Amino acid sequence: LRVGVVFGGVSPEHEVSVITGLQAAAALDRTRYEIVPLYIAKDGSWYTGPVLLELEAYQDLDALRRAAIPVRFDPAVHGRMLLVEATPRRWPWRRPRRYLVDVVLLALHGGEGENGGVQGLCETLNVPYTGSGVLGSALGMDKVLSKLLCREQGIPVVDFLWFREADWAGREEEWLDRLEAELGYPMVVKPARLGSSIGIQRVEDRQALDAAIEEAFRYDEKVVVERAIRNLREINCAVLGDPSEARPSMLEEPVRSDPSKLLTFQDKYMRGGGKAGRRAGKQQAPQGMASLDRIIPAPLDEAQTRAVQEMAVRVFQLFECAGVARIDFLLDDDTGQVYFNEINTIPGSFSFYLWEPVGVPFDALMDELIRLAQK
Ligand code: DAL
Ligand code: MG
Repeated sequence: LRVGVVFGGVSPEHEVSVITGLQAAAALDRTRYEIVPLYIAKDGSWYTGPVLLELEAYQDLDALRRAAIPVRFDPAVHGRMLLVEATPRRWPWRRPRRYLVDVVLLALHGGEGENGGVQGLCETLNVPYTGSGVLGSALGMDKVLSKLLCREQGIPVVDFLWFREADWAGREEEWLDRLEAELGYPMVVKPARLGSSIGIQRVEDRQALDAAIEEAFRYDEKVVVERAIRNLREINCAVLGDPSEARPSMLEEPVRSDPSKLLTFQDKYMRGGGKAGRRAGKQQAPQGMASLDRIIPAPLDEAQTRAVQEMAVRVFQLFECAGVARIDFLLDDDTGQVYFNEINTIPGSFSFYLWEPVGVPFDALMDELIRLAQK
């Protein structure tokens, strides 16, 4: 089976996706799968070639791109993905090489990779792909629609307001008054459709709120502002399967470098030195999400653990997800109330570190994603 591992992509989460892609490629069983690495550069052009599987490659994306082979799509084949080497002009007589992919393993984060865009492309080509379909991906990428849907279904979410740049522009003072009156400080400001904490800020006063909203608009023309929980703990749960066979993972509690702040991009990816994912005798993949300090299982009592797992499965089913998704919750440590925060339909590192403790090693997780893709 030829598995096209797609990573990179036109998204601010590009670098994170390269790590997830390389981890996935390293975990795939080479005796069962032929791996076709497919790197989408930041300008949207596609590349392949064995150099893309070198685990150090993620450190120098420009060098990676220079050494790789540019390819373009050929929609001529139905049921598989066909990529054709973009003919090097130096050798116009040479027949361009073709790369066929039977299953697409999507390791993209954010933007077109996680919002249903690439999923729609795979649907059109009729090629099996891992993870959620167009609907679940599109809903999951949008923090506003996700919250509205959950709230409608009785799944608790923190109070929030949302608006577009066009609504905000020229009415800033009005919005700031309304946010202060309806939510009150502290608040959290987020671009509506991004991941990895990019553009997210917790604010304590009007000036910071104003600046954070302007900053968030640099990433998205839709912004959501939430009431911040003072005594906050974050609890995440991954779910594997599809709406008819969904099972929850162990819970994790990510640990922040500064407990008074939110988890940052730095916390999530730049720490290094994580222990998860290392296996003797195997080439070691970059750590990415696996390097985040976290407590597994999250220290909650049994009833609370089960309640979070049940909620995670409900959200997964509600959004019609497939493959592996990670659902992130906020726990108010003063009241014990748990709120749905967001869903990641392609979680960093596929959350493999949450499946290993429940008896699903990374390679088996990849097998399962491929099986579900072909279902
Ligand atoms: N969006 C990142 C990759 C995550 O939440 O896992
Ligand atoms: Mg997230």
